[in-house]
Amino acid sequence: MSQSNTWLTHANPSLATIQPYQPGKPESELIREIGIDSAQIIKLNSNESLWGPSPHIRKLYQNPPPLQYYPDGNGFELKHTLAKFHNIPTEYLTLGNGSNDILELIARAFLQPGTSAIYSQHAFIVYHLVTLTQQAKPIKTTAKNYRHNLNAMKQAIESDTKIIFIANPNNPTGTFIPYAEIQNFLQEIPKHILVVLDEAYYDYLPPKQQSNPITWLQDYPNLIIVRTLSKIYGLAALRIGYAISHPDLSDLFNRVRPPFNTNTLAQQCAITAIKDQAHIQKVTQETLQQKTWLQQQLTQLNIPYINSHANFLCVEFENAEQINQNLSQNGILVRPIAGYEMPSHLRITVGKNTHNQRLIQTLHKLLKPK
Ligand SMILES: Cc1ncc(COP(=O)(O)O)c(C=O)c1O
Repeated sequence: MSQSNTWLTHANPSLATIQPYQPGKPESELIREIGIDSAQIIKLNSNESLWGPSPHIRKLYQNPPPLQYYPDGNGFELKHTLAKFHNIPTEYLTLGNGSNDILELIARAFLQPGTSAIYSQHAFIVYHLVTLTQQAKPIKTTAKNYRHNLNAMKQAIESDTKIIFIANPNNPTGTFIPYAEIQNFLQEIPKHILVVLDEAYYDYLPPKQQSNPITWLQDYPNLIIVRTLSKIYGLAALRIGYAISHPDLSDLFNRVRPPFNTNTLAQQCAITAIKDQAHIQKVTQETLQQKTWLQQQLTQLNIPYINSHANFLCVEFENAEQINQNLSQNGILVRPIAGYEMPSHLRITVGKNTHNQRLIQTLHKLLKPK
C-alpha cells in the first residue's frame, strides 16, 4: 500500500516510514506465476534447513494435541527442556512466536519516542523495523567489509540509546564477529544499554568458533541472547524463538508478550527437536560440507561471494536482478537483497547436494558466453 493510503495520516506516525517486511517468495507463488511443478522448485531464499526437522517430529503430527484448548501460555514444558539444555533457570527464558517476535518484545519493552537503537548497515532488517514501529530513532553504523563495526557502534552511542542489536553471524552477509571481540565490546559499553546478541545461525558455526555467551550473563546483565528453531532445527513454519536474559529483563518481556504467542503443537515439536541433538550435528556437518563445495564451484566460475559463517552465501553478480529472474524461471528461488543496500548480491541458502548441483549447473548455463 502506498503513501496515498487514506488512513495513513490517522495511523501511528511511524507507519509513514515503514514498508512491510518482504519475505522470500513462497513456492506456491512461483507455481502461480510460471506454472511449474512443485517438485521442480528448489527453495533457497529464506535460509531454511533443506534437511527439515528431526524425523521424530513426524510422530507428533500423527497425534496432534486437542485443538480446542489454548496452549500453555507460559510454555512450562518447553522452558524446562530449554533450561536443561542450556543449563540455566527457567526464569531466564522468554518464548516467542519465532525470534522475530522476541525482537519485537524487546523493542516494545524499551523503545519509545525520545530513545534510540543502534544496529549496523547490512544487518537483519527487523532491527530497523521494530525501532521505527516504536517511534524510536534508528542509528545505523557503517559496516566494514560487510561486517558490523563494533567500534563505530560504540562511538554511535547517544545519551538516549537503549538497545544495540548485533546479529552474529549476520543475515544477509553471513559475516561473523569473534566472541572475544563481543566480550570486549560488552566491557566497554555502559551497563544500562541492552545488547541484543541475535544468534539465529549459531549452530552453523564450527565448534572452534563457538563460545557460550550464556555464561557471560552473570557479568553482563544487559546482555540478551536470542535464538530460533527456524534455522538448523528446521521448524520455521511453527514459529518458535526464545531469549535468554537476566530474569528482571524476561519479567519485562513477559509483560508485553501477547498471551499464547506460542502454540501447543509448536511447543511440543520444539521439545522433540531440541532433544534430538544427533540430528542437529548431522545437519551442521552436511551443511558445512555443502557450503565448502558450493564455494569451490563459485570460485571456479569466477563468481565472488562473501565468506559466510551461516547456512547461506551472499554472492555477487554483475546483474543480480537478471540472474534472480532467470534462476526463478528455472525453478530456483534465491533472495535479492537490494533492500540491504546490496543490489549486486543475491543471498543463496546452502541446500543438499542435489539442490546445489542444480544451482551450479543452472548458473553455468546462465553465465555461459552466448
Ligand atoms: C538474524 C536473524 N534473526 C532473526 C530471524 C527471525 O527468525 P524467526 O522469526 O523465524 O525465528 C532471522 C530470520 O531470517 C534472522 O536471519
